Amino acid sequence: MTEGIITACYILASILFILSLGGLSDQEKARRGNIYGIIGMLLAITATLFAASVGNYGIIITMMVIGAIVGTLLAVRVKMTAMPELVAMLHSFVGLAAVLVGFATFLDDSHSFTGAAQTIHAVEIFLGILIGAVTFTGSVVAFGKLSGKLSGAPLLLPGRHFLNLLLLIACIGLGSMFVSADTSDAGMTPLAIMTVLALVFGIHMVAAIGGADMPVVISMLNSYSGWAAAATGFMLSNDLLIVTGALVGSSGAILSIIMCRAMNRKFISVILGGFGTKKSTASSGASADQGEAVAITGAETAELLKNTKSLVVVPGYGMAVAQAQQAVAAMTQKLRDQGVDVRFAIHPVAGRMPGHMNVLLAEAKLPYDIVFEMDEINADFPATDVVMVIGANDIVNPSAEDEPDSPIAGMPVLQVWNAKTVIVLKRSMATGYAGVENPLFFKANTRMLFGDAKASIDEVVKGL
Ligand code: TAP
Repeated sequence: MTEGIITACYILASILFILSLGGLSDQEKARRGNIYGIIGMLLAITATLFAASVGNYGIIITMMVIGAIVGTLLAVRVKMTAMPELVAMLHSFVGLAAVLVGFATFLDDSHSFTGAAQTIHAVEIFLGILIGAVTFTGSVVAFGKLSGKLSGAPLLLPGRHFLNLLLLIACIGLGSMFVSADTSDAGMTPLAIMTVLALVFGIHMVAAIGGADMPVVISMLNSYSGWAAAATGFMLSNDLLIVTGALVGSSGAILSIIMCRAMNRKFISVILGGFGTKKSTASSGASADQGEAVAITGAETAELLKNTKSLVVVPGYGMAVAQAQQAVAAMTQKLRDQGVDVRFAIHPVAGRMPGHMNVLLAEAKLPYDIVFEMDEINADFPATDVVMVIGANDIVNPSAEDEPDSPIAGMPVLQVWNAKTVIVLKRSMATGYAGVENPLFFKANTRMLFGDAKASIDEVVKGL
């Protein structure tokens, strides 16, 4: 394949990646977006295989087959609830690849650069390895936290900001030593030391971030993995990798900012970590001031719903755990047949990944036109007869608005308590992801329907 055809394939692949990202931003076009991405990647890999600098086909094809088998098995087996862990793990691979390519490029003496070109090449290698190493260990720690293998609580070492600053200054110093080194032996020492420091920095940075900020961390690491790939593209002089890396890097950064807005958190304070260390006072205060939580049965809920005109369903992480989406769809169908106006309210960080609830509702074939985002529906709660909160907790916690000391203070929440009646489906009085007690459960218009969400909804459907 000539260089010209390869470049044309790369341009086409870049366009397909942009269309793919555009499609993924909308539920109805997401499937098409995925297909664009798959075709773009097939084109990119095929064109790269035909590049003049690519050889060793035996190794490449063997590794591709192994990778494809492992990837397929993982994708088939992964549960929707474990998707963020898988994404974190995949980011770690990108980071590790950037480190390995960086060292391979450094040790490859087939290219000789001089003057400014040599300096630029050295900076590319240094930055690629730096970002790759931070992404690698940061993603491994994020994987550990999300999968429960590591504690979700932030690790707060004394003087941690100072430690981070020290690591940054050390990396800058090592960078200047590396760039000015005149032999590869002299360059290896600062490069190796920086790699170790960057690996430590990745661990320290993500370990200091608390559970509730993990979604932002995942998209931030997504962004880092993109920049690591872009740096790898510079090292390998591969334009497509630069473009793709930049697309991933910038879309990850935009998503991080959108998520920070949804949680009313400043991006920099997320990165500095420590969120979720303050103890909420809602627990004792709420139960003491507002009395006991009142339980309701599935049959009683069904009776209540029979006399309801408007129902808003708020799904959360528990609906995903219980895999209750089909039961929820059956209930919705029954109620709509009986003339009830049923709508869904989706909080931007409900569940454990962006769009988590939309995916589940789409899987259960719920019509898109009854699914609303928080901003579209929040003002409607005072005119709503019943709200069913299905396995959600943090996203409907009034202490985000009422308690300035709460760890989730300022996070926009669905104001479900303004409805006439709120029914909360969960198994116990346990806290949600942020570990914050929820005064909603003790409000006079709240009823608790205890049990696994799927079993509870099945009972309601039976009653209907
Ligand atoms: P959470 O606050 O985590 O609450 C989920 C609730 O579901 C729990 O209180 C749990 O109570 C209940 N539950 C669990 N299994 C259940 C089951 N089988 N049946 C019924 N209930 C069940 O979830 P949320 O309200 O969706 O809020 C999301 C939280 O996760 C936010 O803090 C957000 O920042 C964070 N987060 C979000 C993301 C993204 S991007 N969406 C990613 C990571 C973290 P019981 O144990 O009593 O049943």
